[in-house]
Amino acid sequence: MGLYSDEVMAHFTHPKHMGKLKEFDAVGKVGNPVCGDVMYIYIKVKDNKIADIGFETMGCAAAIATSSMVTELALGKTLEEAKKITRDDVAKSLNGLPPVKMHCSNLAAEGLRNAIEIYEKKVKG
Ligand code: FES
Repeated sequence: MGLYSDEVMAHFTHPKHMGKLKEFDAVGKVGNPVCGDVMYIYIKVKDNKIADIGFETMGCAAAIATSSMVTELALGKTLEEAKKITRDDVAKSLNGLPPVKMHCSNLAAEGLRNAIEIYEKKVKG
C-alpha cells in the first residue's frame, strides 16, 4: 500500500472546485509554517450558505486532496456549519492521512474558516 489512501489519490488527481471563483465574497489565505505551502479558499455566500467555493493550493498531494475535500464538505452548508469543519473531519472523509501529513489537512480547514471570518467581518462591519 502506498502512502496515501485511494480517496486521497482520487482527490489529488481529480480535484473538485479547483481554481479561483470569478465572483466571490471573501478569500481566505493560509500558509503552512511547516513546509511553506500556501492555500487560498474563495467563497460565494447566499442566504447565509456557501453557494460556491473554489481553491488554489500551492502544495503537496495531501494539501490538494484536503483542499478538494474541504470544498466538497463546505458547499451548501450554512456558515456556522462550515466553520465547524475540522481537520479530523477532512482527514476522515479522505479515509485517513499519514500522520506526517496531518498538518496539511489543518491548512484546508483553517483556510475555510479564515474565508468565513473575513466574510463575516465584511458583513457585520
Ligand atoms: Fe505542505 Fe503538505 S507538505 S501542505
